Amino acid sequence: MNHKKIKCAVIGLGWWGTQMSEKILKSGKFEIVTIYDTNISNAKEFAKKHGSSVANSVEDALTDSIDCVFIFSPNQFHLQHCTLAAKAKKHIFLEKPIANTSKEGRTIINICERNEVILAVAHNVRYYNIFKKVKELIKKGTVGEIVYIESNRSRPIGFGIDENSWRFYKKSCNGGPLIQMAIHLLDTIYFITNDSPKKIHSFTQKRFLKTENPETFSVDIENKSGSVSHVFTSYVLSESFYINIFGTKGSIFADPLNGLYVQRQKDFQRKSVSFKQNDPEQDEINEFYKSIKNGGAFSNPSPEEALENVKLIEQILRSR
Ligand SMILES: NC(=O)c1ccc[n+]([C@@H]2O[C@H](COP(=O)([O-])OP(=O)(O)OC[C@H]3O[C@@H](n4cnc5c(N)ncnc54)[C@H](O)[C@@H]3O)[C@@H](O)[C@H]2O)c1
Repeated sequence: MNHKKIKCAVIGLGWWGTQMSEKILKSGKFEIVTIYDTNISNAKEFAKKHGSSVANSVEDALTDSIDCVFIFSPNQFHLQHCTLAAKAKKHIFLEKPIANTSKEGRTIINICERNEVILAVAHNVRYYNIFKKVKELIKKGTVGEIVYIESNRSRPIGFGIDENSWRFYKKSCNGGPLIQMAIHLLDTIYFITNDSPKKIHSFTQKRFLKTENPETFSVDIENKSGSVSHVFTSYVLSESFYINIFGTKGSIFADPLNGLYVQRQKDFQRKSVSFKQNDPEQDEINEFYKSIKNGGAFSNPSPEEALENVKLIEQILRSR
C-alpha cells in the first residue's frame, strides 16, 4: 500500500473537532490542507499552528487538491455538509450521529452511494480495546447466556449548556444526552453482543436544566435474544462510563475509566482482567485511511448500522 499522506479538509473546529484534528495530524496519514468553521477565529488559530489555510465556506474548503473531508460540525449541519462533500466527490469521515433524524441519515447514505464516495460515521466507543476485549470474552463463553446488560454514560456538562448551544434545542440535538452520549452505549452494546433491540420502555427527567431536551433518560430494551439492556444517560451527573454484562455463567464489568473485571458465577468477588489500552479515535482514523487507500467501503460501523443507531434513538423518543 502506498503510504503517501492523503490531503483533507476539516469542517467544524469546536470542542471535538479540535481534539480530532490533533489526532488526524498525529496519525501521520493525512495532511490538513484547509479548515472551515463559521467561527473564523477557531479556524485561524489552528491553521496558523499547523500550516493549513482557512477556507471562507464549505464549498471553498472542498478544493480539487483534497481527497476527503472530516466533518465535525453540529448535528443539524451533517446533511448539508455531506451533500456538498459527496457532490464534490470527497470521501467523508462524519462524526456521529449520522444526522439528527433517520430521514436525513438515509439521504446522506444515498447521496454518498450515488457519488461513489466512502462514508465513515465515527462511532469511536466501539473502538475502545476494553470493549473489543468484552466482545472476545462473550464469544469465549465467559458469561454464558446473556440475561441483563446495565450501562451508563453520564457527564455533568448540562450545567454549561445554554441557549447559545446547539445542544440546547430539539431541532439541532434531537434527544440531548440520548443522541449525544447514550448512542455510544447502544452502538457498542449491539456491536459486542451481536444482538438487536425488540421492545423499548423509557423514562425521562428534566429537573435541573432549562434545555428543550430531557436531561436524563432511563431506557430498558428487550432484545431479540431475550436479554434486557438498561441504558442510562444524564447531563447532570458525575462522569460515568460503563457497560456491565450479566449472564448465566458470570458477569463482566467494563469501565474505560476504572478497568475491566470478571466475576465467575461461583465467586463472590470480581477479578481484574488485563487488556492493552489504545487510542480509539486514532484507530478509527487509521481505518478510514485504509478504506480510502484500498478503495473499499468503511464497515466499522457500516453506514446502515450508523443509521440504525439513529432509528433506535427515534424509537426511544417515541416510547416515552
Ligand atoms: N464521538 C464523540 O465522542 C463526540 C464527542 C463530542 C462531539 N461529537 C460530535 O462532534 C460534532 C461537533 O460537536 P462539538 O462538541 O465539537 O460541538 P461544538 O459546538 O464544540 O463545535 C462545533 C463547531 O462547529 C462550528 N460550526 C457551527 N456551525 C457551522 C457550520 N455551519 N459550518 C462549519 N462550522 C460550523 C462551530 O463554530 C464550532 O466551532 C457533533 O456532531 C457531535 O455529536 C462526538
